[in-house]
Amino acid sequence: MDSIEERIKKLKQEKNAVILAHYYQCPEIQQIADYVGDSYYLSKIAKETGQELIIFCGVRFMAESAKIRSPHKKVLLPVADAGCPMADMADINKIKALRKQYPDGAVVCYINTSVEVKALCDVCVTSSNAFDIIRKLPERTIIFLPDRNLSAYIADKCPEKEFIIYPGYCIVHNKILPEHIMELKIKHPNVPVVAHPECRKEVLAFANFVGSTGEMLSYAKSSDSSELIVVTEEGIRYALEQQNPRKIFHFPYPQIICANMKKTTIENVLWALEDETTEIHIDEALRISALNCLNAMHRLGN
Ligand code: 13P
Ligand code: SF4
Repeated sequence: MDSIEERIKKLKQEKNAVILAHYYQCPEIQQIADYVGDSYYLSKIAKETGQELIIFCGVRFMAESAKIRSPHKKVLLPVADAGCPMADMADINKIKALRKQYPDGAVVCYINTSVEVKALCDVCVTSSNAFDIIRKLPERTIIFLPDRNLSAYIADKCPEKEFIIYPGYCIVHNKILPEHIMELKIKHPNVPVVAHPECRKEVLAFANFVGSTGEMLSYAKSSDSSELIVVTEEGIRYALEQQNPRKIFHFPYPQIICANMKKTTIENVLWALEDETTEIHIDEALRISALNCLNAMHRLGN
């Protein structure tokens, strides 16, 4: 009997499928994936890949974003309830009310949002392009949702804009406190800190570099330091160690784990390929509205 990995490989070839995985996925998922990346990179690959069957190992908003831009492709999310609690914090009625309250503002949503929310927004961003895109917008008032931490971080870098900050947050990154970083800094005083912008402002204050998961990996690769303090979800450790076998990475304690990202197992990937039942379906009118918002990101982000 073939191993699960071999069965996945065979089925993938037979069905001409591609496996995409986020850096927070378990190592065994990252190992069998054709592409591993941050949200922006995966969104680009999903559109550009020639394969018509996409197995998206991540959370729902990522698979939805792939389907929005490639409606003719079959996009499977191996675990149907792998969601993002921060995405669920964006409330449609509150967004509509904010638009009314600030009619001259641009409504900017983080890619960590549902298709229904994207359909109401002007432009989408990820943590790797939020600053570049917002800077280019003609509007002075920016209604940013749902992540208050990313929003505050970008607002500091764009003093020419007025930010209306929505009160959402990542339940994983928001648990990291300044004292967790202090503890690491005391143990490793001269080691640089890299952090994800979904962390609290008081945590980002320790960072030598702030960026998306993909940008944190690029920083780690080019850094002269043989050790780094890494402030984000633990799953990134696999790619960090693969790419930098001689460097040492220190993570906060207690471990920072996104339970939703960890729902996908290697068996789920096999079953998704076998049964093709966990498909993302989006109403066509809704998809078209959300497409404008995602296309604006890819246009302005390039
Ligand atoms: P990245 O775009 O940095 O991969 O972030 C996605 C995410 O959900 C972080 O919590
Ligand atoms: Fe959502 Fe946070 Fe998990 Fe990223 S780490 S998927 S923002 S809950």
